[in-house]
Amino acid sequence: MATALKLVSPEEKVTSFVSRKHKMLINGKWVESASGKTFPSYNPATGEVMAQIAEGDREDVNRAVEAARHAFESGPWPRLTPSERGRLLWKLADLLEQNLEEFAELESLDNGKPLKTARVADVPLAVDLLRYMAGWATKIEGNTIPISVPYTPGARYLAYTLREPVGVVGQIIPWNFPLLMAAWKLGPALTTGNTVVLKPAEQTPLSALRLGELIQEAGIPDGVVNIVPGYGETAGAALAAHPRVDKVAFTGSTEVGKLIVQAAAGNLKKVSLELGGKSPNVVFADSDLSSAIDGAASAIFFNHGQCCCAGSRLYVEKKIFDKVVDGVADQASKIRVGSGFEPSTDMGPLVSKEQLDRVCGYLESGFAEGAKAVVGGSKIGDKGYFVKPTVLVNTNENMKVVREEIFGPVVTAMPFDSPEEVVPKANNSEYGLAAAIWTRDIQKANRLASQLRAGTVWINCYNIFDAALPFGGYKQSGWGREMGHEVLEQYTEVKAICSAM
Ligand code: NAI
Ligand code: MG
Repeated sequence: MATALKLVSPEEKVTSFVSRKHKMLINGKWVESASGKTFPSYNPATGEVMAQIAEGDREDVNRAVEAARHAFESGPWPRLTPSERGRLLWKLADLLEQNLEEFAELESLDNGKPLKTARVADVPLAVDLLRYMAGWATKIEGNTIPISVPYTPGARYLAYTLREPVGVVGQIIPWNFPLLMAAWKLGPALTTGNTVVLKPAEQTPLSALRLGELIQEAGIPDGVVNIVPGYGETAGAALAAHPRVDKVAFTGSTEVGKLIVQAAAGNLKKVSLELGGKSPNVVFADSDLSSAIDGAASAIFFNHGQCCCAGSRLYVEKKIFDKVVDGVADQASKIRVGSGFEPSTDMGPLVSKEQLDRVCGYLESGFAEGAKAVVGGSKIGDKGYFVKPTVLVNTNENMKVVREEIFGPVVTAMPFDSPEEVVPKANNSEYGLAAAIWTRDIQKANRLASQLRAGTVWINCYNIFDAALPFGGYKQSGWGREMGHEVLEQYTEVKAICSAM
């Protein structure tokens, strides 16, 4: 009897949450959309509609922005002591941790990722990020600055800086790590005393809506976090352009990132962007080959390649090229693709029909330009959005599959001869989010790390994230950094105060 492999069903509280008619959170109240419209969220493992969600648009965004404005200008949040703000964020982290299983299940249902991944990665990382940011609330400091002022001889001044919240922040997030992206955005905004309108991705709104309930339960005041689900072109665009929003923070495609910048120009709101990538993963012959092969496989196949920092361009030193490619292909062939709720599943479906079509379109374009699949190369079945883990060879720098972000489990492997040859190739991209180097030669590793134009460089590891480690992109991979203390700069204004003595 194959009971051990039976599909685990979601907890009762998860199914009852999912089947609700979902509203949006504005000013501490759960409300319908102004238009009364709803939109569906699909289960990517089956392609079936799973939930109906209130569809936010301009009018809802207006209301949410007014609520956030009021909460910022006259509500308690920015006026709480830093210690009180930190404690409320810590409480939110505790509540999230207490509901870890529920959130992992929601995430797996809505996004398709394996439940076991959401349990060990998405939810714990979100909890840890909130705690890390809670700790910052009491540590946002300015400086005292000795000044000279040559045109006021003899005068003395006390000069210092304050770091103050930017104000009302619009946050637009993607579907690849729905809860974690909400945490990455909310944590720094809230710890610094801003108020927020959050728009989750239309593909995966559920965990953000449930998080909204925990935000209320934690005692974060009404209007501090407003959550408006809806489509990008409508709700997202209205938020990015809104004249009473002081800052917009966006994670998603580079294409939409550029639209956000244009929309923000109207009131010159501050902008931070975490965009696409086409990250080079460079394996040298002097590396520990078995960990390099494992690392190269997980660099591209983790989260089905739906990671902005996926190691999608694999550069391998020529004399070990076949060995590494065979090793990665062997791992790809062993990946069990299936429903995220199947305990044995290593890789779930892609998030949506659009993404399935996009990834398959890239595969076809690769084959048309002469690429060959060592393993994979097609979708799986007709139900759900499954695609085979794929390793492409015979690829070169001019091909679309090498230049553009595929955002699926597809890696292009290319040989190189020397460090001097591989650095310009690795840097030959409009993106600059991440890169990795595998070698036992520490000098070579550090020299290359300084030469690679990327916001993160991993040496003998990949996909290592921490709330304390800044993350973000060079070039068209974005503006600003998430996490670490660097992100706090994106959420504070500096005020210089100069006082005559
Ligand atoms: P997208 O950039 O369209 O969506 C991300 C978020 O932006 C969603 O919340 C969406 O509703 C919103 N959005 C879309 N258009 C908008 C607009 N005009 N104004 C304001 N907000 C808008 O990404 P999409 O279409 O889901 O995926 C397409 C590609 O984008 C993927 O194949 C991948 O290459 C890239 N992507 C990158 C991500 C990253 O983590 N850097 C995450 C998601 C997608
Ligand atoms: Mg969905």
